[in-house]
Amino acid sequence: MLLNAIVKEMDKDILILAIESSCDETAAAVVKNGRFVLSNVISSQIALHTLYGGVVPEIASRKHIEKINQVIKEALKEAEVSLEEIDAIGVTYGPGLVGALLVGVAEAKAISYAAKKPLVGVHHIEGHVSANFIEHKELEPPFLCLIVSGGHTHLVVVQDYGKYEIIGRTHDDAAGEAFDKVARAIGLGYPGGPKIDKLAREGNKYAISFPRAHIADAPYDFSFSGVKSAVLNHLNSCEMKKEEINRADIAASFQEAVVDALVTKTLMAANDLKLSKVAMAGGVAANSALREAMEAGCKQRGITLYYPSPILCTDNAAMIGAAAYYEFLRGTRHGLDLNAIPNLKIGQR
Ligand code: KG4
Ligand code: ZN
Repeated sequence: MLLNAIVKEMDKDILILAIESSCDETAAAVVKNGRFVLSNVISSQIALHTLYGGVVPEIASRKHIEKINQVIKEALKEAEVSLEEIDAIGVTYGPGLVGALLVGVAEAKAISYAAKKPLVGVHHIEGHVSANFIEHKELEPPFLCLIVSGGHTHLVVVQDYGKYEIIGRTHDDAAGEAFDKVARAIGLGYPGGPKIDKLAREGNKYAISFPRAHIADAPYDFSFSGVKSAVLNHLNSCEMKKEEINRADIAASFQEAVVDALVTKTLMAANDLKLSKVAMAGGVAANSALREAMEAGCKQRGITLYYPSPILCTDNAAMIGAAAYYEFLRGTRHGLDLNAIPNLKIGQR
């Protein structure tokens, strides 16, 4: 039986305490029935890592240790739920920075053991996809999902809750990684995505024609290293010719190239596979130009588009609570031997 059908038959409320610590946010949330967020506490380390121009793994782990107990306490308090009332502990166990992941996993195991609650390990990217279930109560599989984060760029068919078929992936940089690298090159600093998004509004997206990669025999695959190199070449050439660098035009033209590739391939896949629902997930799904272009493309083709609000696009624990709920219903239970898996694959159990 599809999980979709089981979900409809559930008559008891399930409360998940979720923990996320895979990168630079220490987060905890309480989520009811996978869709209703009772609390969503995020302690961001961005200001700290900005000093170094990117995430420093060792610092991230130490900060998670410092913050995690407080963040969990706040999440339970804000939700007005006691630990006894929680049905299961959901935790991200991969992919991500191993030291950072370990803090959340160790904490979740300790709570699970002490409070005698089932432990459900969650794939971070499956969490990103599940953020859509929180924001759109009516959304049910099957649908196509474009996952665009700092570490991943995937086009997947969500066949059922927790059941994914990857149909496209990046051959090199992830979309968010390209945003961060280009932002650094034009002196915007970390994290680059939101800064490029903002600066691009002042620039002309047609000023510079940056390349879009076409990958033979893999129409839904992506490549962003070419556009990143083209930006670096443009900067070098301006410097050599002593021409003024227009950072807003570069930001807008780079963003246009990335957005164009993401939208074109997603719409092509939706059309080929006859899927009338498209969702977006991950930090780059917060990008305003991507949202606008995908919205326009979907409208033209009669496709319904879903994406979470920006706070649920970037890392948070509510999305982990949503994914953990469907794993919990599926019967997934992890033991105290659960380990952090930095390169955990989508759909790997
Ligand atoms: O999903 P996420 O929070 O963390 C990972 O799982 O990687 O994604 C972070 C990425 C970063 O690369 C960040 O620059 C990018 O998402 N990002 C954006 C925007 N907001 C965050 N990229 C483009 N436009 C944005 N508004
Ligand atoms: Zn993420």
